[in-house]
Amino acid sequence: MCGIVGYIGKNKIKEVLLEGLGELEYRGYDSAGIAILQEDNFSIFKAVGKLENLRNKTKDFHPEGFSIGIGHTRWATHGKPTELNAHPHVGENSYVVHNGIIENYQELKQRLQAEGFNFLSQTDTEVIVHLFESHLKALKEPLKAFRATLDELEGAYAVLLITKSAPDTIFFAKHGSPMLIGIGGDEKHFASSDTPLIGLCTDVIYLHDGENGYLSADAVELFNESYEKIDPVLKPLPSSKLSAQKDGFRFFMEKEIYEQSQVITDTLMGRLGEAEINFEELDSELFVGINEIKLCACGTSYHSALAASYLFERYSKIRCSVEIASEFRYKQPLMTQDTLFVVISQSGETADTLETLKMAKKAGLKSLVICNVDNSSMVREADASILTRAGIEKGVASTKAFATQMVVFWMLSLYLAKQRASMTSVEIAEHISLLREVPSTVVVKDELHEKLRRLSKRYLHGHGFFFIGRDVFYPLALEGALKLKEISYLHAEGYPSGEMKHGPIALADPELFTIALMPTNLLYEKTKSNVEELSARDSTICAISAREFDKADDFIQIQERSHYMHEFFEMMVVLQILSLEISVRLGNDVDMPRNLAKSVTVE
Ligand code: M6R
Repeated sequence: MCGIVGYIGKNKIKEVLLEGLGELEYRGYDSAGIAILQEDNFSIFKAVGKLENLRNKTKDFHPEGFSIGIGHTRWATHGKPTELNAHPHVGENSYVVHNGIIENYQELKQRLQAEGFNFLSQTDTEVIVHLFESHLKALKEPLKAFRATLDELEGAYAVLLITKSAPDTIFFAKHGSPMLIGIGGDEKHFASSDTPLIGLCTDVIYLHDGENGYLSADAVELFNESYEKIDPVLKPLPSSKLSAQKDGFRFFMEKEIYEQSQVITDTLMGRLGEAEINFEELDSELFVGINEIKLCACGTSYHSALAASYLFERYSKIRCSVEIASEFRYKQPLMTQDTLFVVISQSGETADTLETLKMAKKAGLKSLVICNVDNSSMVREADASILTRAGIEKGVASTKAFATQMVVFWMLSLYLAKQRASMTSVEIAEHISLLREVPSTVVVKDELHEKLRRLSKRYLHGHGFFFIGRDVFYPLALEGALKLKEISYLHAEGYPSGEMKHGPIALADPELFTIALMPTNLLYEKTKSNVEELSARDSTICAISAREFDKADDFIQIQERSHYMHEFFEMMVVLQILSLEISVRLGNDVDMPRNLAKSVTVE
């Protein structure tokens, strides 16, 4: 969580920092701030709320010439979203920005307060800058003081620090939170992801955990955890930012829903053979000796994992279990080496998921990540990776990442089915034909979008929503409910259809909205009976199906299809647009819903 940027150079530093923060605003937008050091003068600006407020505050500030600066967009962990808690945090002569959590900040704070340091904020971050200045007094040299500071920090961090005692230098350290360095001519940049650097830099250095050092106008000095000098590895940065724009849509989420057909085509590209799936990135050795797949993820990625577990058992005939990463971390799980540990993540940075991957590796398990961001922490950590190729996803509510994860899982279940001979070549070939049709199932038709827009006005109140489904439509129901609650702030739950009568049906009345997923190719009659039970108890029913259903108060018709997975993808789009339109009617910020952030890099 939180986004950080840094800059050293002679060009428009204010604009560079603010534009960089704009690209990272999806990581948190409770408050933002920048600190710029020119010769011996600091200029500091902070504002609560969206970045626009910071832009307004800095509109009459026009620094020129060589300068160094750092910036931060915050997702609050310690302390409310106030200006005092906004970064950069100040010491006597230094400023710091930080992404992550300093776990031992309370004890450090007490010690520093006893030494006479005055704390202005409630944050954990502020200890870093006072600790640095405390060490600087004793050690006299800023690099030594910075290292002594790092030696005392426990937790996760990506840190940038600037100080009058080294006025052309930015000190940095990465330990568990993402950060990279960008080089563009004689300008140097820092950012939490590569997006802000596109167009500004030709090359980047992806920092690894434990790495630290400093940048100045003419030096990039990089050290490992033991402060031994290491050579930076430069990687070329793509030059197009086009895919990150809104393309005329009202919201990134909307654009991303409409992009699904294209990105799924990209996901499939080069991977579909006649009767086999090709994952060039996988070594077939990965599955040797494997008797179980354990899938682990958070949020939407957890829902795709849950849906995948049905496919792995059904098609690949392999035992499959699914874990919520934040639970798995602390349950002292049993990990046996015949298990392939698979993490799923759009960002590749989610702290809980990343930590489970490290645990599995430590326990000697083989690991695979299904991820949307190349070079992310998880991709670098896992033994193998499959990229989902969804492109940059900016809406906080995940859409196209989920769609491409599902396509990867469907392909992977067939890849394994071939290896394990659990399906015939003819059966696999049939599925491959079905996979080729997936892009057409998610094309958004104008009439459908218009119908959902009109329907949305009937679902702005009530005491709750139940999204229900069976089999893979149960995880899809969970995902539909998550989409709705994230951006509408209405209470919604996903439930297995057959489980409603074991408790939740007690809630049924006209103000309880049931969104029923009723595929015709999978357990239709069973699901229908469950929906009828709710209808008989007067719940308002919104049914999504290819088959007319006379007990529905509202009916959203999808196309008649030959396979349930095609119904799955079409219903997925219906749920995404329904949530979007309800959120729009309620006047919410669709792309940046309250209290959320795109990338959750704290546990
Ligand atoms: O980047 P990840 O896939 O690891 O993120 C996991 C969740 O934080 C994420 O899916 C979250 O639930 C989304 N806001 C859902 O729309």
